[in-house]
Amino acid sequence: MSDPLGQLAYKTLQQGRSLAGLAHKELNSRLMAWLAPKAKANVVPLAPAVLAELRQSMDALLELDWREAEQGLYPSQLLFAGPWLDWFLRYPLVWLDQPAIWSRRSRRDVRDLPRDVNPEQFPDYYLQNFHHQTDGYLSDRSAELYDLQVEILFNGTTDAMRRRLIKPLLTALPQRNQALPPRILDVATGTGRTLRQLRGALPKAQLLGIDLSSAYLRQANRWLSQLPGELPQLVQGNAEALPFADGSMQAVTCVFLLHELPGAARQACLNEAFRVLEPGGVLVLADSVQLSDSPQFRGAMENFRRLFHEPYYRDYISDDIPARLGEAGFMAIQGQSHFMTRVWSARKPVAGAS
Ligand SMILES: C[S@@+](CC[C@H](N)C(=O)[O-])C[C@H]1O[C@@H](n2cnc3c(N)ncnc32)[C@H](O)[C@@H]1O
Repeated sequence: MSDPLGQLAYKTLQQGRSLAGLAHKELNSRLMAWLAPKAKANVVPLAPAVLAELRQSMDALLELDWREAEQGLYPSQLLFAGPWLDWFLRYPLVWLDQPAIWSRRSRRDVRDLPRDVNPEQFPDYYLQNFHHQTDGYLSDRSAELYDLQVEILFNGTTDAMRRRLIKPLLTALPQRNQALPPRILDVATGTGRTLRQLRGALPKAQLLGIDLSSAYLRQANRWLSQLPGELPQLVQGNAEALPFADGSMQAVTCVFLLHELPGAARQACLNEAFRVLEPGGVLVLADSVQLSDSPQFRGAMENFRRLFHEPYYRDYISDDIPARLGEAGFMAIQGQSHFMTRVWSARKPVAGAS
């Protein structure tokens, strides 16, 4: 059912989020240049035509987000959802954290982690301050600020990008007996924002989330326990060695993980997703666009890598993800780009099917 007023309200909300994100980043970079000049990153200037194309592709993302909600793929309330008061109250903490970030950037220190972290419990590639984030992924303070920081980074479009995995998921999810809800695992679930979108689209599904960070899972539990319905099961563990039985899931999702992994770990995660899926099960990935699908955004990708500590991003943007999916055993591989996100879906073949 068409709802022009609702759509206008969504557009207005998104314009506000976008302006808030842009204003924050502009002020932050000016203050950093003034107070911590050594922290400054050399960014590539983007041509006006590229900026216009970015703007258009963001508008197309929001238009599609609205349309798919109207089509009933997920409730339109999801488009307006956000812990607004919580974010408002936490915003000063984002600023209070900035001097520590500038200082680490000036020192080129990307391994400044809490003292009580036992490095033997984590892969070495993980023990870094991704995005120059204080404590990396390894503290409650980091987990409390993460959603708001990502919201600012992507000018308020992050959930709209996460929701792009819902349509391929619903389309490819194996048809099952109504009495047996699908089991869906979200790998690297972080603070659970993707699970929140999935709960909206699939209220009856049995949802599970796994992440290496217990602090992020605690935050996910706080958000998700406020939702009606079954509480998703949250498990601490490594995506490279999932603690689930072979063939135990109907679907696996994974959002914004691959670009934070070295190539071998990326492949290991895809292999593990394949193992835990039942034959006919579906994997849906969402991550950054790449050079092959969005060459026009090369400069924006380069700036992302220069501005935020993303040690594996350069390798990721030229990696052949469909080839990796094929190597893991997947078939029916499809990809689509939405603004800065690439979504791939792939199916685990049923024995004997070609
Ligand atoms: C950029 S965040 C994305 C989180 C979430 N999917 C989202 O959409 O916001 C990356 C997440 O991957 C997790 N992570 C990184 N390496 C991992 C691994 N090998 N196994 C499990 N989780 C991992 C981090 O703890 C972090 O929560």
